Amino acid sequence: MSATQATLRVYRGDKNKGEEVEYKVPVETGMVVLDAIHWIQAHQAPDLAVRWNCKAAKCGSCSAEVNGKPALMCKSRMERFAPGEPIHVRPLKTFPIIRDLVTDVSWNFEVKKRIPPFQPREGAEWKWQQHDVDRAQEFRK
Ligand code: FES
Repeated sequence: MSATQATLRVYRGDKNKGEEVEYKVPVETGMVVLDAIHWIQAHQAPDLAVRWNCKAAKCGSCSAEVNGKPALMCKSRMERFAPGEPIHVRPLKTFPIIRDLVTDVSWNFEVKKRIPPFQPREGAEWKWQQHDVDRAQEFRK
């Protein structure tokens, strides 16, 4: 299938000032917004700051506001957006911005420290049910 073209307006800047910058990106079947951001990094803006890790909708590190709504960029299929309409990609409003699409999520790690690890009760027997195993495996495929 031949590539079509999408317009992305990506926030560029830091906590003091920034603006959306427009990029034209060739779109292939199955592409997600994170792929488009990576294409921009590879071809037009190597200094574009973006955080990602798993590219499998598991870690949450690619979170951004896509057309005004919090989303995982690695799970946001390009075909979901109306052809010809610009796709706005901005950092999450929930956290302080560091640069471009990267925010300071250190608050999450502070909260995590306060959550006690799971400890089975003394003498209690904990068994996995097969349907729980199946569900966990589904997310790890
Ligand atoms: Fe891990 Fe998107 S890269 S959720």
